[in-house]
Amino acid sequence: MKTKIYDIQKFNDQAMAHIKEAADILKKGGLVAFPTETVYGLGADALNPQAVAAIYATKGRPSDNPMIVHVAGMDQLYELSSLQSEVITKLTKRFWPGPLTLVLPKKEKVPDVTTGGLSTIAIRMPDHPVALELIKQSGCPIAAPSANLSGRPSPTKGDHVIEDLNGKIPMILKGGNCRVGIESTVLDLTSEIPTILRPGILTQGDLEMVIGDKVVLDPALDRKKHQEILSPKAPGMKYTHYAPKAEMIVIRGNQDRVRIEIERLKKVNEEKGRIVGVILFEEQAFRQAAHDFFAKLRLLDDQGVDLILAGALNDENPIGFAVMNRMLKSAGYHIIEV
Ligand code: TXA
Ligand code: MG
Repeated sequence: MKTKIYDIQKFNDQAMAHIKEAADILKKGGLVAFPTETVYGLGADALNPQAVAAIYATKGRPSDNPMIVHVAGMDQLYELSSLQSEVITKLTKRFWPGPLTLVLPKKEKVPDVTTGGLSTIAIRMPDHPVALELIKQSGCPIAAPSANLSGRPSPTKGDHVIEDLNGKIPMILKGGNCRVGIESTVLDLTSEIPTILRPGILTQGDLEMVIGDKVVLDPALDRKKHQEILSPKAPGMKYTHYAPKAEMIVIRGNQDRVRIEIERLKKVNEEKGRIVGVILFEEQAFRQAAHDFFAKLRLLDDQGVDLILAGALNDENPIGFAVMNRMLKSAGYHIIEV
């Protein structure tokens, strides 16, 4: 399939025509990759089961993994979910458009394939003019997971999408580099206490402040549990999320010791003839780390490295925690404590 690629930099007439063309593809059940402020998405009409099924097939994604549905306004939200609450109002007023996904009970008309068979639906309003215009022009809520092949790092630049999906879908809209760089915070509002299922740039504290009540982390994200998974007794656990092609090791501990250990491992491995890449962020630059992380993984893969050595961020910081959630998965939980 020939993929049309449009780079939308300014909102002139030509750009609007390109977005209109993309919207027509969506209306007819086709797929379009588009930019959001978090990562690029691979979109289809969320209410068209065949179109949504094509996303799974294109990405090679397991079909029980539900997608996020992107909307451009509150009216569209209430078309998909009948739940109305003060918490929803507070959160959407403060954080939409933005990197917050809400898990809510779904209405009957939402096809099972969109929600992976669940009775709930994940919804967000993205903070990117191209994404918002595309949703408005198409008139449909857009189901979109990240626009990478399953298992590859999420795409934060148009070129990443081209790398993974060129020739596989009818259209890619480029719209610059994603401002946030990691996927949205996913908050479940169907549990008794609002629960963060996936950490992101909007933190537990941010959400609690706006709700004025407690928010909890899904126990599956618990740090102590990570420790158990990380225990050297279970080195064989395989996670294929966000994986670079290279082997990856996370080095965690005191920042000075981390630097020394990375230098040492780099030297040892280079002496064996391996090409070694390093990911080491400034200690307090958590937002920068979120912005750069996936792009760094792809860059090192492009450079053909055999081994990536990554310095852990302080996960006491909630954004550091969100980046570490991705970093540890990328490394298949392979970690060295120093
Ligand atoms: O920032 C983002 O959220 C990006 C951009 C494109 O908007 N999208 C994204 O989608 O990251 P995806 O499909 O890669 O991740 C969706 C996450 C998955 O972890 C999925 O399991 C969870 O949201 N999810 C979706 N629907 C859910 C539901 N009904 N209940 C619980 N989790 C759900
Ligand atoms: Mg993804």
